[in-house]
Amino acid sequence: MTFTSGDSVGFVGYRGMVGSVLMQRIIEEGDFKRITPVFFSTSQAGKPAPTFDGLLPESTLLDAHDLDALAKLPIIVTAQGGDYTKAVHPKLRERGWDGLWIDAASTLRMNDDSVIVLDPINRDVIDRGLESGVKDFIGGNCTVSCLLMGLGGLWKNGLVEWATSMTYQAASGGGARHMREVLQQFGDINGSVAQELADPASAILEIDRKVLAKQRSGELNTDQFGVPLSGSLIPWIDTDLGNGQSREEWKAEAESNKILGLTGDDRVVLDGLCVRIATMRSHSQALTIKLTEDLSVAEIEKLIDEDNEWAKVVPNEREATMQQLTPVAASGTLEIPVGRIRKLNMGPQYISAFTVGDQLLWGAAEPVRRMLAIATGAI
Ligand code: HSE
Repeated sequence: MTFTSGDSVGFVGYRGMVGSVLMQRIIEEGDFKRITPVFFSTSQAGKPAPTFDGLLPESTLLDAHDLDALAKLPIIVTAQGGDYTKAVHPKLRERGWDGLWIDAASTLRMNDDSVIVLDPINRDVIDRGLESGVKDFIGGNCTVSCLLMGLGGLWKNGLVEWATSMTYQAASGGGARHMREVLQQFGDINGSVAQELADPASAILEIDRKVLAKQRSGELNTDQFGVPLSGSLIPWIDTDLGNGQSREEWKAEAESNKILGLTGDDRVVLDGLCVRIATMRSHSQALTIKLTEDLSVAEIEKLIDEDNEWAKVVPNEREATMQQLTPVAASGTLEIPVGRIRKLNMGPQYISAFTVGDQLLWGAAEPVRRMLAIATGAI
């Protein structure tokens, strides 16, 4: 099967958080001009499909579990989530469907016959995959993708001996309900000390005591995160692998090497702790990197800046850092700011770096959108 501009493309899961950002980016880039979208739903089949304010002609949502309808399409793009992938993908393949499956979920990521897509970093791996008949192209973990978009230049040039990544991951990494929960908690905490806050003469230790009491009271809604996140943090993300490592932490090394196509002795060790914080959007990470060479900071900054058009070095200065290297600055943009680059006291080959990326864009929707553009010959 070959893929061309004008192809029909099935979209599943276009209304969730990643799916909505994907649609927004597709519209912004005018991608619908090159393809014929067919929308599927797991719950709304038979209802009107989106037209995006008249951008698309009216049509009807098809059933996302209708294998006959899915199998007619040369390309399926899904942001429906891992359970959907698990339920549908094997059945489609079993019946001989050999179209392209482009997926934001992690289910198929580490399969030998899939490629993790992040084309500014691994276009060569994607192209080799397409040429050799790979059919499953999967978006990477959000923190891993944002990390490589920012600092991939160092990895690609073989300059990283090992690295640690200590993450600060936003509530939205958990999902839409997690974002609501964080805001609700902030509101409830605020409400518990509103009177004292309004009085500049009130004692701050009394406010602090009441806030802590509220957080520990069991009254805050913690359905999503299990414990209060607002005004706190949770140094564990995803499941417990039983060896002290969380699954989110395991993904860093496994996925980064797969994305870069590094195997055997070429693999780069990457490990660290993943921490959930009460930001809304954009994952941040603090890195310690041992370089294979003693490069100057200027050389390092040049490699990062020149690697791709989205990585942007922020000068390691207080004001620039505060203005440009935060989730508030990065959210909603495709830029991946990288800052705090300096030599550490451990020695000339050790550097620190801090990077922030909108994990719904480069961490989820954008690599998937671009894979569709690559598959249809647009980029
Ligand atoms: N595993 C990620 C997280 C999801 O929990 O933050 C990607 O945003």
